[in-house]
Amino acid sequence: MDLQNRSDLPRPWMRGVGAATIALVATLAFQSSADAQVTFASADGIDVDVTYAADVAPIIQKNCTVCHRPGGIGPIDLVDYEDARRYARRIRRQVSNRLMPPYYYDNDIGIQELKHDWRLSQEDINTIVEWVDQGTPLGDPADIPVLNIHDTEDWSLAAEFGPPDIVAPSTPIDVPATGLDMWHRPFVPTFNTSERCIKALQVKPKGASKSVVHHANTTFQILQEDGSFEGSGDRATEYAMGKLGEIIPDGVCRIIPKDAYVRWDIHMYPGGLGASAPKAMLKDNIVELGIWLHPEDYEYEYKQDLALYGLREGQLLMAPHSTTMTQGFRSFDHPVRIDSFQPHGHLRLRSASLEIFYPKTGRTEVISMVSNWSATWHQSHIYEDDVAPLVPTGAVLVMKQWYDNTAGNPNNPDADQWVDGGSRTADEMSHMWIAVTHLDEEGYERMVEEREEKAEIIS
Ligand code: HEC
Repeated sequence: MDLQNRSDLPRPWMRGVGAATIALVATLAFQSSADAQVTFASADGIDVDVTYAADVAPIIQKNCTVCHRPGGIGPIDLVDYEDARRYARRIRRQVSNRLMPPYYYDNDIGIQELKHDWRLSQEDINTIVEWVDQGTPLGDPADIPVLNIHDTEDWSLAAEFGPPDIVAPSTPIDVPATGLDMWHRPFVPTFNTSERCIKALQVKPKGASKSVVHHANTTFQILQEDGSFEGSGDRATEYAMGKLGEIIPDGVCRIIPKDAYVRWDIHMYPGGLGASAPKAMLKDNIVELGIWLHPEDYEYEYKQDLALYGLREGQLLMAPHSTTMTQGFRSFDHPVRIDSFQPHGHLRLRSASLEIFYPKTGRTEVISMVSNWSATWHQSHIYEDDVAPLVPTGAVLVMKQWYDNTAGNPNNPDADQWVDGGSRTADEMSHMWIAVTHLDEEGYERMVEEREEKAEIIS
């Protein structure tokens, strides 16, 4: 993929110009072009009769109903025809602007092959738009597929991996209806009896806790003889609102130590965040960590870890009605593979990008871009195995985030406030969570060759 040749893209950050305002203008341009694309497709005279029963119900059932149903986290129900017809205009607006399903990742720049990608295809979007524009016809009710949705209290990754091998719940805590941000940091045992490699992890706030738990990070700790804990240096995982989980690619190992304890670091926001916030006292909030393990005799070559990469260049302090930008740089003394990427910020963060700079050629490649960030939906964007970036020794990860403290930012609760760095929801943060497999030169060469061979077979 050579993104350098795409000079048609009006993206200032590709040329390293870091003006947040320009980036935000581009964000809006991107949204209206998504609208334009859809209108063009329908004006192009696709002369088919789109019906709810045959065309729209399968899309909604597969992509929406899991959250939009009684007891789900979505504010409206999208279960049957009456629901879809009633909310048709809102559905059209949300899907054509790519706001729903909530998975914010630019679809026209960087790597597009992602695991557990919730985005609708352009074809599905066009189908919904056509259906609304044609007056929401029902069609033959016999065509409506039987609705089959799993319980949101289930582990989402269970469909793929079965029930987790280890479940480590936090201790319960009450969260009041209003008040300041809260943190809860209990230690809990995993009862893991030998050092093992992790296959997948998922953090799941139980029940209504989903709406008040802003983030929940976990590290592995070992109980010492004197009763104190010591970090093993291994981070278990990171969770922030809306996140599905993490899957570690085959052939590498993220370690869980023997007899590990989990140290929870849970950040809660009384009253909740987002449209489904309960604004009520919530009793006994529990967050669970589910861990899927590889078998004892699992073989691997390289270790993988998830770490926080700070964006330490630039100023996070924002005056009322202003914007800013931060950057971070990181290189390694060995080759690496980037397995996943997840920006982190709060209500003023609007856009984030990950690039790789290759000093040998002077080339910069955009790996991932999120132009329309929302703090209610954090996703770990997991690259498909064949496209996870292979980074040679000495190449530089360039991480950028753009912030908007103006009233033009739809997530900004108060543009008259000064905003500075800090961990309260009203403060801002600037880092990324990146999962990295640490390779050696030989493994790197081999992986590059394997990909080249595959590419030749395909072409
Ligand atoms: C992971 C859960 C989830 C999925 C999947 C999801 N939504 Fe939503 N949706 C929400 C939440 C939560 C909100 C409330 C706004 C917010 O917090 O972003 C919302 C808001 C909406 C709204 C605005 C409702 C209003 O009050 O105006 C519409 C319309 C909508 N979603 C449609 C859809 C459609 C159509 C799909 C599938 C193509 C979908 N959603 C998939 C969780 C979800």
